[in-house]
Amino acid sequence: MAASSGRSLAEVQRRVSEVHHGTDLEQQLRFYDGWAAEYEQDVIILHYEAPKLAASCLASVFQGPSADALVLDVACGTGLVAQELQAKGFCRFHGLDGSQGMLDHARRKGLYQELKQCMLGQEALPASSGFYNAVLMVGALSEGQVPTSVIPELLRVTKPGGFVCMTTRNNQSNLKYKKQMLQLLDDLEQRGLWEKIRVQEVEQWERATAEQEATGGSGYISGVVYLYQKTPSVGF
Ligand SMILES: C[S@@+](CC[C@H](N)C(=O)[O-])C[C@H]1O[C@@H](n2cnc3c(N)ncnc32)[C@H](O)[C@@H]1O
Repeated sequence: MAASSGRSLAEVQRRVSEVHHGTDLEQQLRFYDGWAAEYEQDVIILHYEAPKLAASCLASVFQGPSADALVLDVACGTGLVAQELQAKGFCRFHGLDGSQGMLDHARRKGLYQELKQCMLGQEALPASSGFYNAVLMVGALSEGQVPTSVIPELLRVTKPGGFVCMTTRNNQSNLKYKKQMLQLLDDLEQRGLWEKIRVQEVEQWERATAEQEATGGSGYISGVVYLYQKTPSVGF
């Protein structure tokens, strides 16, 4: 990860709160294009650990040689998730994101064998059904970002028996989104399409961008990592 910049926490908080404030997709992706060069320095200031937490969660349950596993990183941004997974022995990555600026930075890492632009929630994922051993979506399932309608697509492109790892936040303005997400996760489980393997609640997920979003005056919001396994006998 990049070294920390000279920006103050307040400057970074101001910048990040822009992304969550009801812009349309085109504006939002332009925002990410403009943020790409400083994204990694800024998330250090925010103590954003979601890529590391998701990678550890997947690695702790993954069966078989991780070096052979083909991993799809959805909303890959600058590539922090692949970086964390590489440290755990994974090395075959494909990435998707809507922001060309973010994809350009991810490409420079040299970790992804394939990177594609994709408007998540608006189009199907550009992948065959049952293609990936693991699919991760970190930091992008939240209010004002990618709609929950992408979740069945994450499941579709995962191999039977493969894993889907997702994160979301518990802050006030994301509670409605999180409830909708949970209903969908449960519905897919009740239909026998996948099984919940792990739910990891994390108190200090990242520094809050506004005081009213923080948990009990801590200055942090909490978040959660979900890990599901696609039913081995499922026919897609
Ligand atoms: C907070 S960043 C997370 C990046 C990376 N997964 C990480 O954890 O560092 C969110 C990413 O989602 C992408 N994104 C947000 N909404 C999107 C959408 N509807 N379609 C495609 N990409 C989107 C942004 O371009 C950005 O790269």
